[in-house]
Amino acid sequence: MGKADRKRWDGNVKSLEIINKSKNDITKEDMQFLKENYTSSGGLLPNSFANGAFHTPPAVAKFIWDVLKPRLPEKAKILEPSAGSGVFLEHSPEDSKVTAIELDSTSAKVTDLLYDAEVIEGDAFNHKRRNYYDAVIGNPPFGISVEWEDDGEEWQAVNKTKGKRKGKSEVAFIEHAIKSVKPGGYIAFVLPMGLAYGNYAKKLRKYMLDTVWQVATIMLPAETFQHVGTSVATQILILRKATPNARLIEPVTKKWGSNFRRGGWDDITNYDATFLEGQTPAYFAKINDIGWDKKGRMTDLGEDGETQLDELVRDFLDDNLMRENLYPHIPSWHGIKECDAFFFSHGNDTCDGYRDASLTFRDGVYRWNELTLGAGDEATWNGEEVSTFDFDWQDQIVDEYIHSLENNKKFAG
Ligand SMILES: C[S@@+](CC[C@H](N)C(=O)[O-])C[C@H]1O[C@@H](n2cnc3c(N)ncnc32)[C@H](O)[C@@H]1O
Repeated sequence: MGKADRKRWDGNVKSLEIINKSKNDITKEDMQFLKENYTSSGGLLPNSFANGAFHTPPAVAKFIWDVLKPRLPEKAKILEPSAGSGVFLEHSPEDSKVTAIELDSTSAKVTDLLYDAEVIEGDAFNHKRRNYYDAVIGNPPFGISVEWEDDGEEWQAVNKTKGKRKGKSEVAFIEHAIKSVKPGGYIAFVLPMGLAYGNYAKKLRKYMLDTVWQVATIMLPAETFQHVGTSVATQILILRKATPNARLIEPVTKKWGSNFRRGGWDDITNYDATFLEGQTPAYFAKINDIGWDKKGRMTDLGEDGETQLDELVRDFLDDNLMRENLYPHIPSWHGIKECDAFFFSHGNDTCDGYRDASLTFRDGVYRWNELTLGAGDEATWNGEEVSTFDFDWQDQIVDEYIHSLENNKKFAG
């Protein structure tokens, strides 16, 4: 075991001693120690996958909150469905009510000790509050299999066999998050990149196309999870749940140009592409310096204490994500022969947006927008003309839907 792993190991052993003390004997220093040192055992021993327990670096969790907070209502209801030791709870909005679920009893105890939240020790798939949360955040386990008793609920991306629902963890956690969040609510998860193109996630991509607006994809470098010994390629994916009555419609702009155009001008006409009404141009970014290197040494390339994640937050604090300096690109599925869901970046470094961004932002975070419904021209919605760049369109769809539910209730009551 190397020096870093030894330190992690010792940190976990001391953490166990702390949580085994009676509650009254646990000091403030103990709590601080837990926060800084308890990492569970993912990747620590050979083959130690520990239900995918690879905790998120606090800077990544903080970034997600920095981006989401301005979009949440007061007293937001939040779900963290695979909480680990609660890294995501550290920066949650002060007036929010957080529900944190965790399968591992030690991790659940740590979260319960450290944070003021409804902590549930158990399996996320037994948690059945639907259309309830304003946001679901976290870093679900990747690459493991999950299963639970089928209770007749419909699932699109998780198979049913012999009375059980069974599927790949990240796929099942995303479908669970979409079911749990209310229309207009947000999902922000750290996820493996493979989800954007792997065959295993085909049904999920279709389900996402039908149910959520894609807000942003932020690709993270391999050293992001260096502290827990893994270099799996990850992304932060931010989604917003659409209303059930939102329709899939065809893009208004059929021919999209790009200065890095890799094919003909008629690409979109080769596909039966549709997006949910209200889908804004999707935001993409690729971080190439997370703030530390693969040995865990701080980098601070800009020598200003600011990381590329900090730099990105500014894009999101604008009242929209379509920065004027971001040249909108042909979606990165351009050139792909069979495309089941016109949804995400396929995560490769050859798409037009990436190539342009790598030249435009040589010293910073590569970022770009991908066109979805159109290059700013008008679409017809509800008998009105709306711009395909209009970021209020989603809010209007959500507000009208909620209004119609309230009216229905009034008439019924
Ligand atoms: C990748 S870790 C992330 C932990 C935390 N969200 C973070 O970002 O630091 C995944 C966590 O999911 C937990 N887990 C695995 N399967 C679960 C399930 N079915 N229900 C709830 N938690 C689960 C693991 O014990 C582990 O703590």
